[in-house]
Amino acid sequence: MKTIQSKVMTATEKQIPVNKEELFKNIISHSKEYGFIFPSSEIYDGLSAVYDYGQLGVELKKNIREYWWKSMTLLHENIVGIDAAIFMHPTTWKASGHIDAFNDPLIDNKDSKKRYRADVLIEEHVSKIEGKIEKEIEKAAKRFGESFDPKMYRETNPRVTEYQKKIEQINNRFKTALNAGDLAEVRQIIIDCEIVCPVSGSRNWTDVRQFNLMFSTQMGSVSEDSGTIYLRPETAQGIFVNFLNVQKTGRMKIPFGIAQTGKAFRNEIVARQFIFRMREFEQMEMQYFVKPGSEMQAYAFWKETRMKWHRSLGLPETKYRFHDHVKLAHYANAACDIEFEFPFGFKELEGIHSRTDFDLKSHEAHSGKKLQYFDPEQNLSYVPYVVETSIGLDRMFLALISHAYRTETLEDGSIRDVLNLPAFLAPVKAAVLPLVRKDGLPEKALEIMNVLKFDHLCHYDEKDSIGKRYRRQDAIGTPFCITVDHETVDASSANFNTVTIRHRDTMKQERVATDKLQEIVEEKVSMKKALKSL
Ligand code: GAP
Repeated sequence: MKTIQSKVMTATEKQIPVNKEELFKNIISHSKEYGFIFPSSEIYDGLSAVYDYGQLGVELKKNIREYWWKSMTLLHENIVGIDAAIFMHPTTWKASGHIDAFNDPLIDNKDSKKRYRADVLIEEHVSKIEGKIEKEIEKAAKRFGESFDPKMYRETNPRVTEYQKKIEQINNRFKTALNAGDLAEVRQIIIDCEIVCPVSGSRNWTDVRQFNLMFSTQMGSVSEDSGTIYLRPETAQGIFVNFLNVQKTGRMKIPFGIAQTGKAFRNEIVARQFIFRMREFEQMEMQYFVKPGSEMQAYAFWKETRMKWHRSLGLPETKYRFHDHVKLAHYANAACDIEFEFPFGFKELEGIHSRTDFDLKSHEAHSGKKLQYFDPEQNLSYVPYVVETSIGLDRMFLALISHAYRTETLEDGSIRDVLNLPAFLAPVKAAVLPLVRKDGLPEKALEIMNVLKFDHLCHYDEKDSIGKRYRRQDAIGTPFCITVDHETVDASSANFNTVTIRHRDTMKQERVATDKLQEIVEEKVSMKKALKSL
């Protein structure tokens, strides 16, 4: 291997120090500048919390979806996929509990006219107190040096225990208020905690009221026959209502799973943080139907399996953590989130839930149709239990791009933006670049393109200096640049019919035979290798 730049700086040297807020802003503008993500209907000033995927974004998104889909349906003989409609019979949402309980408590500030989620205001207030505790501990650790015992300090320091007591009081009050549906009490907590509006700085709050997150519309052309229907807020219900169709027609034996990817819609009140919380987004969900009593085993299996999937992407393990739910939804007997460290902190990326037989039983009750599995071995019928894995495709996209994006200062002082994406997920797998736009080099480069393009999305680029072209490809995460130079087409050269391959991350180049290119690129960008590691 030949190094073009004699010294490549280490990753830590290369990072240009920006704070996390700046970094996040850079990620958003980079995503737009290079055609990954655009604000929806931007010419009309955009639509809040709705985004469009551009020419490269759509490729990255498709690759993530494909990796998830294959990991479910190819690697598990007992998992099949479906594609249910977005519109469903309205009773679906009564049975699932979404009509009655898919609510967020909202509150407005009368001065700024800004709307907030009351629970988020309280949670953020609690986080601030937690921050104070951490600061106390940090200060004490500096003061006491090596002998410092943070656990004991947390339990005995009067100021810390006072903060801790405050947190517990707020949390208990809030939980009781929510359980009782007491929205006046939720407002009173905001008043008592002296929470101010971040925009106006005032405490001039309206009452708290419940807000259902489902979007509704009318089906039918004549208003008299039209009925209210909903845009699905999760894809899962399309799987539940098709459970028996798939089981019978696919002759599936329990345990088995049904996977689905597709759009979901939620009228989020606090829709911030780019594609983290959107009003229209895509989910990748899998419901795993098991025999009652074996759900905890399946739950443990899927927790581990899904974490393994994330780890196979090559991001640092410290970027992920489990968060076990303490307070479970009424239908769940176990639940956790896989959290990812986004630029704005650890947040939910995926949910794994043991949902018991709640959904199927409720659909039985509302439809009057039996949704039971006949177990031939036991000669009995039962409603299966369900373990679900549910991940937002857009959130996974954000996790990948926010970790991959970096700005590096090179040895010559120039700066490059690079997306360090896993090669098999990168939108463009290779760029084919003639060194100059003459001497038969473009023709040779196009010949190479014509071989590679049947397997991989490749770019051909002959505009600007080779350095600029490399930078462009680095910025969109292309793992390999293939350069055709004069030696490639010079029959008298020892390097006749060879090209250089430049590696995105190290910027190193190696010379390889053109007839080996297909094999080399395939080996390096193959999804199969990642799937085999699972
Ligand atoms: N069927 C279970 C379910 O929908 P959820 O925790 O509400 O569970 C699952 O959603 C996943 O969907 C989340 O972990 C997240 O990745 C994604 N998600 C939920 N709401 C979202 C939103 N408004 N924007 C983007 N992704 C969202």
